[in-house]
Amino acid sequence: MGLVQELGGPLAEGFARLGLASQVAVAVGGFLFLSVFFNVLSQILFKNPNEPPLVFHWFPFVGSTITYGMDPPRFFRENKAKYGDCFTFILLGKKTTVYVGPKGNDFILNGKIRDVCAEEIYTVLTTPVFGKDVVYDCPNSKLMEQKKFMKIALTTEAFRSYVPIISDEVTSYFKRTADFKGQSGIVNICPKMAQITIFTASHALQGKEIRDKFDEKLADLYHDLDMGFSPLNFMLHWAPLPWNNRRDHAQRTVAKIYMDTIKSRRAQGESGAQDMMYHLMNSTYKNGVKVPDHEIAHMMIALLMAGQHSSSSTSSWIMLRLASRPDIMEELYQEQVKNLGADLPPLTYEDLAKLPLNQAIVKETLRLHAPIHSIMRAVKQPMPVPGTKYVIPTNHVLLAAPGVSATDEQYFPQPDLWEPHRWEKESPIAPSIVRNDPEEEEEKIDYGYGLVSKGTGSPYLPFGAGRHRCIGEQFANVQLQTIVAMTVRMFKFRNVDGSNNVIGTDYASLFSRPLEPANIYWEKREKHWE
Ligand code: HEM
Repeated sequence: MGLVQELGGPLAEGFARLGLASQVAVAVGGFLFLSVFFNVLSQILFKNPNEPPLVFHWFPFVGSTITYGMDPPRFFRENKAKYGDCFTFILLGKKTTVYVGPKGNDFILNGKIRDVCAEEIYTVLTTPVFGKDVVYDCPNSKLMEQKKFMKIALTTEAFRSYVPIISDEVTSYFKRTADFKGQSGIVNICPKMAQITIFTASHALQGKEIRDKFDEKLADLYHDLDMGFSPLNFMLHWAPLPWNNRRDHAQRTVAKIYMDTIKSRRAQGESGAQDMMYHLMNSTYKNGVKVPDHEIAHMMIALLMAGQHSSSSTSSWIMLRLASRPDIMEELYQEQVKNLGADLPPLTYEDLAKLPLNQAIVKETLRLHAPIHSIMRAVKQPMPVPGTKYVIPTNHVLLAAPGVSATDEQYFPQPDLWEPHRWEKESPIAPSIVRNDPEEEEEKIDYGYGLVSKGTGSPYLPFGAGRHRCIGEQFANVQLQTIVAMTVRMFKFRNVDGSNNVIGTDYASLFSRPLEPANIYWEKREKHWE
C-alpha cells in the first residue's frame, strides 16, 4: 500500500502536467491495456470444461472477428487443426460455436426446432429486404408452408419450359452486349454473370412481364435492395443511413410492382401458366387462407434474392475455372456434339441429363466455391453435443460450415484440385459418396415442404440440410447447367496470361464470390453466332 502511494503521487503529478489530448491518449491506452490483460487472464483462468475450447484472442468484443472475416474457410481449417471439430470464437462480442464435419453439420442443420432457430439471427437482415410476413418474419411452420408452395411450383413440366427460356436469354445477352463485340476480347466476367443470372431467373420464375421490367427500373431497385445484405447491417439494419433508406424505398417500390402485376394478371383471368407468381396466386395455407398479395410479392423478392447471389457467384466461378482449364471447356463442347448431334439443336431439359460432365462442372465448382460459407442458428435451450462432455448454452450462436468437409482430404482425395471428372465412379479421386453403393438409400424426412434427404453423414452439403434446406437446388442446377451449355457453344475461354491460375475469393459480403476484376480472355466459336 505504501509503495502504491509512493509511486502514485509522482505518477498523478506527471499525469496532471500532460495536455488534454495526451491525458486522453494515456487514459485510453491504460483502458485498452487493462481490458486486454483481463481478457487474456480470464481465458487462462476460467476454462469451462463443459463448453468447447475458446479460440485465443487478445481483444474483448472484437475477438476473432477480423481473422474470421478475412478468410472464413482458412479460419475454420486452422482452428479445427488446433481445437478439433467443435470450438467457440468471439464474433462481434458473441460467443459463436463452430461445429464442422458431417457430425457438426447434422448437429446444427438437423437440430430440433425447440433447440435451434434461424429466424432470430437472420430476420434483422432479411425482413427489411423481403418485406413482412414471409420467410424469417413469420413462425417457422408458416415458412415451411411457403417453401412447400415454392417447391411444388418447380415441377418437371416447369423445368421443361425453363430451359428454352434460359437458353434464349443467354444467347441474346451475349449477342447484344457490347463487351462481346468482335472475334475475341477480355472481360471481367462477374458482372456479366450477375446480369445473366437475374435475367434468366426473373424470366423463368416470374414471367416475361417482370423480366422485361429488368431492362428498365427493376435492376437498379434490386441493386438498392441488395445493399441491405451487407454484414454491417447485422448491427446497423435499423439506422437511417443512406443505403438503408434506399433499401426501404426499393422494397416498397418492388413490392408494389409485383402487387400491381398480380392484380392485372387476376383481372385477365389467366390460366395454366408455369411461373412461380402464377402458382403462388393459386395457393392456400392449411388454415384455408389464400396467400395474400403482399406475401406473394415478398416471396417473389425473397426467391430472386436467395437465388441471385448463390447462382451468380457459382456461374462466375464456373467461367473462371473453365478459363483456367480450356481443355475441360473443349471436352464440354465435344460432349454436346457427341451426345446431342453435331449441329447442336436447341437445348432441352431432357438434354441436360445426357451431359454428365456438364453436370459435374456445377457439382465440383460448388464443392470448392460454396457461396454460403457460414450458416448460423440461435440456441434456444442448452444443447448437449453427443459423444462429448460439451453442452452449448443459450448465449452461444451455432455456426455450421459444410464447406469444411467438402474440402477435407478425408472425404475428397486431392481436395484443393478442381477436377469435375472426380464425380465419375471409376475416377481414382472419386469421393466415397460416389464410390459407395447408390442402393444404400439416404434417410429422408419431411419438415412440411416435401421429402428431403436428411444429409446426415454427408460431407457434401452445398444446399444445406434440415428444415432450412434449399428449395432452389433443382432450379439452380437447371439454370447453371443451361448457362454453361450455352456459353460453351458460343465461346472458348482461357486465362489472360494463359496460366491455370484462379483468382482469390472475396469474403467481404455475406456470400463468397470471386475477387474483381476477374478478367478472362474469350474467343467466339463462329459457327454458333449466326
Ligand atoms: C436455403 C444454397 C440457389 C432459394 C439455402 C441454404 C443453402 C442454400 C446452403 C440453407 C441456408 C440455411 O440453412 O440457413 C444455395 C446454393 C444455390 C442456391 C448454393 C445455388 C447455387 C437457390 C435458388 C433459390 C433458392 C435459385 C430460389 C429459386 C432458397 C430458399 C431457402 C434456401 C427459399 C430456404 C431458406 C430457409 O428455409 O431458411 N440455399 N441456394 N436457393 N435457398 Fe438456396
